[in-house]
Amino acid sequence: MEFRHLGRSGLKVSEISYGNWLTHGSQVEEDAARQCVQAALDEGVTTFDTADVYAGTKAEEVLGRALKGVRRESLEIFTKVYWPTGPGQNDRGLSRKHITESIHGSLRRLQTDYVDLYQAHRFDHETPLEETLKTFDDLVRQGKVLYVGVSEWTADQIGRALKIADEMGFDRIVSNQPQYSMLWRVIEAEVVPLSRREGVGQIVWSPIAQGVLTGKYLPGQQPPEGSRATDASGSAMIARFMKDDVLTRVQDLKPVAADLGLSMAQLAVAWVLQNPNVSSAIVGASRPEQVRDNVKASGVKLDDDVMKRIDDVLGPVVERDPGRTVSPATRP
Ligand SMILES: NC(=O)c1ccc[n+]([C@@H]2O[C@H](COP(=O)([O-])OP(=O)(O)OC[C@H]3O[C@@H](n4cnc5c(N)ncnc54)[C@H](OP(=O)(O)O)[C@@H]3O)[C@@H](O)[C@H]2O)c1
Repeated sequence: MEFRHLGRSGLKVSEISYGNWLTHGSQVEEDAARQCVQAALDEGVTTFDTADVYAGTKAEEVLGRALKGVRRESLEIFTKVYWPTGPGQNDRGLSRKHITESIHGSLRRLQTDYVDLYQAHRFDHETPLEETLKTFDDLVRQGKVLYVGVSEWTADQIGRALKIADEMGFDRIVSNQPQYSMLWRVIEAEVVPLSRREGVGQIVWSPIAQGVLTGKYLPGQQPPEGSRATDASGSAMIARFMKDDVLTRVQDLKPVAADLGLSMAQLAVAWVLQNPNVSSAIVGASRPEQVRDNVKASGVKLDDDVMKRIDDVLGPVVERDPGRTVSPATRP
């Protein structure tokens, strides 16, 4: 496993991290969840990503139990706040009240005194940015959070936050967590150029497009049994990629991967890691073999000809519109 700095910070993260959205506390049983975490640890993954909202807070509990006994200093544990974690009007968003209450719940569930990175899971249009950033800064000073980041923020929102932090002397955002894959490149036009200038690293989610870039979903056919596309909550999430034109072009990537001696999943993860603004690619897994497959993308270099071949194969099905980075207009 190779390691990269998280943005311009001093923190190093494994360039492939493990995330438990839709799996822990939900699609997969606890035994399988533990096996996936153990496989990640065995393969040198040190960075683990979760969120308060995953599986209605159960995902943090499962991850906390799975990592129990592992030397805390050898891990980077990331979590997030914003989406609803309860029925009340203050159980969501980025107010001082919800952030403060949510971090305490996350620390309890993860069985740790601090998280390495605390991320605003979306932009909250109902809370002054100063209130959110001051609260994050207080958590850093209290030692409950070591670094702060955001997720799915636009370049404008990240730029505004950095300006306020600089003016007020608050801790700066070091990372953004956007969706990024061969099929979803919406950060390239605006978020990445600003982030490179400002030292913000991308920790990218769904690098395998939720399994689609493994090539296991065939156009015009039923999805394989037990895959995310057959899962009750997962099927809605993966739907945007389950279109015949996308699935057909993904099949055409198979010779590209084969020529390089890579699996399709490895090619997909290696592709996002070619972007130097990417600090880490967060992979998900429902089975430990998947983790062992995906981590082999660490350190793989793809030359310009390969990158061009991929672009030629995927052509018009690649999404590039920066306007696709959106947070809800009002709190969910
Ligand atoms: N910040 C955000 O808003 C946000 C949103 C989404 C995700 N995330 C983060 O990103 C992490 C990763 O997201 P993701 O799970 O969508 O990522 P992904 O790595 O693109 O997809 C993971 C899924 O693809 C399938 N898969 C993975 N490797 C495979 C392989 N080698 N062969 C066959 N199938 C394979 C598995 O699903 P099946 O076996 O079930 O098919 C697995 O659960 C999340 O856990 C979370 O930490 C963040």
